Amino acid sequence: MKVLLTGSAGFIGAAIAGQLEAAGDEVVRVDLMLEKAHGVSTAPEGTHQLDVRDAAQWGPLIDGVDAVCHQAALVGAGVAVGDLPEYAAHNDLGTAALLAAMHDAGVARLVLASSMVVYGEGRYACPTHGAQTPPARTVAALDSGDFDNHCPVCAQPLGWELVDERARLDPRSTYAASKLAQEHYTSAWVRQADASAVALRYHNVYGPGMPRDTPYSGVAAMFRSSLERGEAPQVFEDGGQMRDFVHVADVARANVVALRAVTEGGSGRYDAYNVCSGEPVSILDVARALAAATGSDLEPVVTGDFRTGDVRHVVASPQRAGADLGFTARIGPEEGLAEFATAPLRA
Ligand SMILES: NC(=O)c1ccc[n+]([C@@H]2O[C@H](COP(=O)([O-])OP(=O)(O)OC[C@H]3O[C@@H](n4cnc5c(N)ncnc54)[C@H](O)[C@@H]3O)[C@@H](O)[C@H]2O)c1
Repeated sequence: MKVLLTGSAGFIGAAIAGQLEAAGDEVVRVDLMLEKAHGVSTAPEGTHQLDVRDAAQWGPLIDGVDAVCHQAALVGAGVAVGDLPEYAAHNDLGTAALLAAMHDAGVARLVLASSMVVYGEGRYACPTHGAQTPPARTVAALDSGDFDNHCPVCAQPLGWELVDERARLDPRSTYAASKLAQEHYTSAWVRQADASAVALRYHNVYGPGMPRDTPYSGVAAMFRSSLERGEAPQVFEDGGQMRDFVHVADVARANVVALRAVTEGGSGRYDAYNVCSGEPVSILDVARALAAATGSDLEPVVTGDFRTGDVRHVVASPQRAGADLGFTARIGPEEGLAEFATAPLRA
């Protein structure tokens, strides 16, 4: 298979390129080397330093590829309102330009990197009233240390359940809105271009090569960076937030499996899948696991601080990716986080 891989110099893109090449597939690597992701640095050897927004000008690069694996994006939480145009440019416009260029070049198979952030809050149930969609948590409640979502009927704290792909989509940040837009452009393109695509909704990805301590890097990297500085990891809320941490090697393998499924299958397919470990873990337990594995005697500090855009729990069902794609994660959080505690990070 010949695959054009966007975002190939990124944390996940580099892992995908490695697995494809190890399997004997040909990889055309494209990455803008965005300063927000890489600082000022030059493209790794073999990488075409190009912008997905200019995909119409790529010419022969895209000709003859069997599929595109689209990882390029501006990632992170969408920290400032002023970041809105930049997320829309790299993520919305970038995806639209790529899809149009693929159509012009006769390339009709795509795997898209999507995200759990398209769901917003996770899935909840009240012990008495069953499945519930809670209203957003208020600043007053968070200020008073009440971090749970509550049943709209009886106000009891709601318990978490696994989110599946049919869940309501409710992006809560600029970044999340742009990831959902990528899914929408892709499903429209599948219909208009008689194409096929799979969107992979990654949960919290971690592993070697993860970006270090920036506003855009994940919580596991931030905890690790604190430990390296000899500081205790600072855990927001009460640390009870539940997430699914999935290892980058599993995420890369999910992409390889999905690329084979779209290239070998017929047209007209658009499916979205959770890519997760299936083993929910609390944020406090992640901080503890990293501290323990680094051999540090620093205990994580639960600060009670909060960020208004954060969701309480979001954990996923791996069932559909297992049934349709034959993908199941192999590295659970216990093993993966212990390895990650001392793995190299991206500067
Ligand atoms: N890391 C996670 O936990 C996570 C979770 C869910 C989804 N994702 C998605 O996975 C994908 C890869 O993320 P990552 O964690 O490897 O981030 P990353 O920042 O390491 O990689 C993204 C890459 O895209 C490149 N890029 C950005 N804009 C570009 C443009 N206009 N043209 C060409 N290249 C451009 C950057 O230079 C960077 O190398 C993204 O689409 C992201 O939204 C990541």
